[in-house]
Amino acid sequence: MRDRWGSRTIFILAAIGSAVGLGNAWRFPGMAYQNGGGAFLIPYFVALITAGIPLLLMEISIGKKFQAGAPTAFGRIHRRFEGLGWWAVLTSFVIAAYYTVILGWSFNYMWASITQAWSGGAADYFQKSILQISDGPGDIGGFSLPVLVTMVLAWISVWWCVRNGVHSVGKVVKWTVTLPVVLMIFLGIRTITLPGAIEGLNYYLKPDFNALLDVKVWAAAYGQVFFSLSVLFSVMIAYGSFLPEDSDTTTDTMIIAFADAGISFLAGLVVFTTLGYMMHTSGVAIADMSISGLGLAFVTYPEAISQLPGGHIIQAIFGLMFFLMLFTLGIDSAFSLVEGVVTGLVDKFRWNRSWTLLAVCVAGFLGGLIFVTKAGLYWLDIVDYFTNNFNLIVIGIIECLLVGWIYGSEKIRTYFNETGTIKFGKWWDAMIRFVTPLALLGISIMWIIQNIKENYGGYETKYLILGGWLVVAITIIIGFGLMFLRSREAAPEQITEMGVDA
Ligand code: PHE
Repeated sequence: MRDRWGSRTIFILAAIGSAVGLGNAWRFPGMAYQNGGGAFLIPYFVALITAGIPLLLMEISIGKKFQAGAPTAFGRIHRRFEGLGWWAVLTSFVIAAYYTVILGWSFNYMWASITQAWSGGAADYFQKSILQISDGPGDIGGFSLPVLVTMVLAWISVWWCVRNGVHSVGKVVKWTVTLPVVLMIFLGIRTITLPGAIEGLNYYLKPDFNALLDVKVWAAAYGQVFFSLSVLFSVMIAYGSFLPEDSDTTTDTMIIAFADAGISFLAGLVVFTTLGYMMHTSGVAIADMSISGLGLAFVTYPEAISQLPGGHIIQAIFGLMFFLMLFTLGIDSAFSLVEGVVTGLVDKFRWNRSWTLLAVCVAGFLGGLIFVTKAGLYWLDIVDYFTNNFNLIVIGIIECLLVGWIYGSEKIRTYFNETGTIKFGKWWDAMIRFVTPLALLGISIMWIIQNIKENYGGYETKYLILGGWLVVAITIIIGFGLMFLRSREAAPEQITEMGVDA
């Protein structure tokens, strides 16, 4: 008998936990700021409705229908597409390998909040004390001990959360979803009452409607929606596979998607009111601050904390709250990635779940070692850029074609409408068959042009090949290779049975 979520609420919380992560905390605010401020909400919601929600609903429903993770589920739709599922699983694995490193940094920063270690300048602290950053990706220079240690801690936390599958996940997500939101609201109440906060909000939300004419802004919105909802990386299919037959996946999808969007928006309020305050105290314009990516969380924010009124104790409390928020936001995304991998393997090979989990965690730790060297940040940046763009786009296009055209979007729509309270009309088919793949195609063309024009991040070509294209190639080769291994339970007659079933 397949494992089941303890209740509907627990499933919803776990899915929100996966969706809400580092992507909401810094990616969204930065994106909004760079892409038209308040006007960015328009492409964002269009992307959410035309692609994010349709895909999320599709993945949860596929998992539920086939009661299996991505590889087995896709394999049942069409034998040749099992490899696509494995490709998605391996992409999850790669993301997990560096996501845990970033989680580890939040441990370093919790400690630093108490010791005030960054008082001599947060940028220096981040680069010299924590990362001990080298001159470039070619200069590995050994490990940075503080991040090696906290990465191990992060892996132990991830292992601990998923050690009993959906049962332990169910217990953990009650905390890791509610706590960061409470902390965020609390931080928001404090920061909005600081001087300069309103100017900060002005920066964030001042709508620039001209931005809507720029295709890049639309591409950014679609990319952000996919990443933020955790779709296309096998995670939501695995989570859906633990749902019972009668679950209302249409309503659940709407709840998950809007909770994710709401928390992104809230994170933006917290971030920009804080930046406004910094502008007020230090006189540095927001445009000159690091407002997106790692710099925001690990340089600009600590800087702001060290300027808060109220002395050391208050600053320590705010630092702890902020980095605890970051950790709890991220941990349930990290373990959902691991759960996606483990579910894929256990469904196919029928291995013992606990050992598989342990092996995945150890392998993830070993693979992640490159990111805790002194050149780690460079490699993290390169690997993230390629897996999160190239793999996401291509997997997305093929997945839409597979489900929309080969399996038939109408079949899956009838399936989820049967038990769903909210009914989806024919427009859903159009989104899955046309709009989502076309949006992805558009993004991919722009992405390719961009990469031909200039090397990403100014890195030398050889490093982009090694950390980018080689990693992409490995996920494809191993992914499609795994397809040819026999699954444990597949006796010949069952293969035909599954064929008929599909
Ligand atoms: N959605 C997560 C975030 O916003 C990241 C993630 C992507 C998690 C894909 C799982 C799968 O940070």
